[in-house]
Amino acid sequence: MSRSAHPAGPRHADVLPEGHYSAPPADLNTLDAKVWAQTVTRNADGVLTVGGVDVVSLAEQHGTPAYILDEADFRGRARAWRTAFGNDADVFYAGKAFLSRAVVRWLHEEGLNLDVCSGGELATALSAGMPADRIAFHGNNKSTEEIRRAVESGVGRIVLDSFQEIVRVAHIAQSLGRRQRVQIRVTVGVEAHTHEFIATAHEDQKFGIPLAGGQAAEAVRRALQLDGLELIGIHSHIGSQIFDMSGFEVAAHRVVGLLKVIRDEHGVELPEIDLGGGLGIAYTSDDDPREPHEIAKALTEIVTRECEAARLRTPRISVEPGRAIVGPTAFTLYEVGTVKPLDGLRTYVSVDGGMSDNIRTALYDAEYSVALVSRASDAEPMLARVVGKHCESGDIVVKDAFLPSDLAPGDLVAVPATGAYCRSMASNYNHVLRPPVVVVREGEARVVVRRETEEDLLRLDVG
Ligand code: LLP
Repeated sequence: MSRSAHPAGPRHADVLPEGHYSAPPADLNTLDAKVWAQTVTRNADGVLTVGGVDVVSLAEQHGTPAYILDEADFRGRARAWRTAFGNDADVFYAGKAFLSRAVVRWLHEEGLNLDVCSGGELATALSAGMPADRIAFHGNNKSTEEIRRAVESGVGRIVLDSFQEIVRVAHIAQSLGRRQRVQIRVTVGVEAHTHEFIATAHEDQKFGIPLAGGQAAEAVRRALQLDGLELIGIHSHIGSQIFDMSGFEVAAHRVVGLLKVIRDEHGVELPEIDLGGGLGIAYTSDDDPREPHEIAKALTEIVTRECEAARLRTPRISVEPGRAIVGPTAFTLYEVGTVKPLDGLRTYVSVDGGMSDNIRTALYDAEYSVALVSRASDAEPMLARVVGKHCESGDIVVKDAFLPSDLAPGDLVAVPATGAYCRSMASNYNHVLRPPVVVVREGEARVVVRRETEEDLLRLDVG
């Protein structure tokens, strides 16, 4: 790797262009523990290490870009959620955030359940030995084939998302001689304070059945009549990257309100309530996420209080965190290819990946941080934009960040908190190959999802 310093970049200290950033940190070598995986540190040479392995040797052995995942951190977070909710509640890891067979095994060993939302996720879960009764099957348009496989394999619950699906699942279960445990997903009409595309409980959207106008109550009425279904509860998921618990409070209040209506009308007290996932993590130093035990305490108190007021037995609670478990446990390791200072603006730092391995910045205006990780540097901070190698000007990985002004081609940079929704939403845009997921633990690194090859691409191209 070349270590030649770039000729001094533009000075940004005097006039900073418009952007969402605070002043440069006092020391760019310091790593904010909030955004990095738990075992991350810098060694005596200034090289970042994780799980006891340094990033220079990770890049040499596995290439870049690569997602580097800290197994101890993943297990620790999974365990923290499990312990926080105790034996009276269930934690379903949301597989959409990131799923691989290694992850399924860790979840199984740590006593968590798993939420899947496609045939592919179900196949991954089952092939890695997750007991089917610990799997929840989600989705707003499950195919008949997916429903059949879910019922046949004996999944613990299917979350019903529409009137048609209530009938569809009931028929399939009956034709297989089964009675399928189901929940009904409702939209509670909460405006979650998050990006429009990841808010899911307002009424004008595709998920769930609205509580408003009595639609959810009607869905319950129909589900209770069908022999193929055992209705075990109501499900609500209000959105993602949420810090404020008030949305959950309103959601719980309204879901419990429905449980009361059901009790009054049918004489049935549904035994379960699922409050979904969506708890936020720190992408930058500005984010202050809550600990699982605080979240568990808050949610349990809300549901208990609402049920007492409604004179209902408190149902068993379940939650579905995805990002909050896997998000902070991984970072993406890139090699810098070009450094392009634009006078009076900022310096564009091009890395060897981009929107194909992290679409979140382009899709949601997501904010990330970034650090030089193959060495320490005492150079002045420069305002940088980390961009990818794709043919789009919107191919931005980190919109505004400070990096040392001696950053040069060949340096390694890492973007923390990319464990969730990066590999799982990765694409082959521009026929770029999707990066591997390398797991580190106690001084060892192993590949759990390998890098794509050109043969992989050509194998699908059968024309
Ligand atoms: N449960 C349900 C029903 C969900 O739809 C989701 C996320 C979760 C749980 C997990 O949410 P989490 O705890 O991971 O925030 N791709 C977007 C977010 C969309 C997530 C969709 N559903 C992102 O990159 O932020």
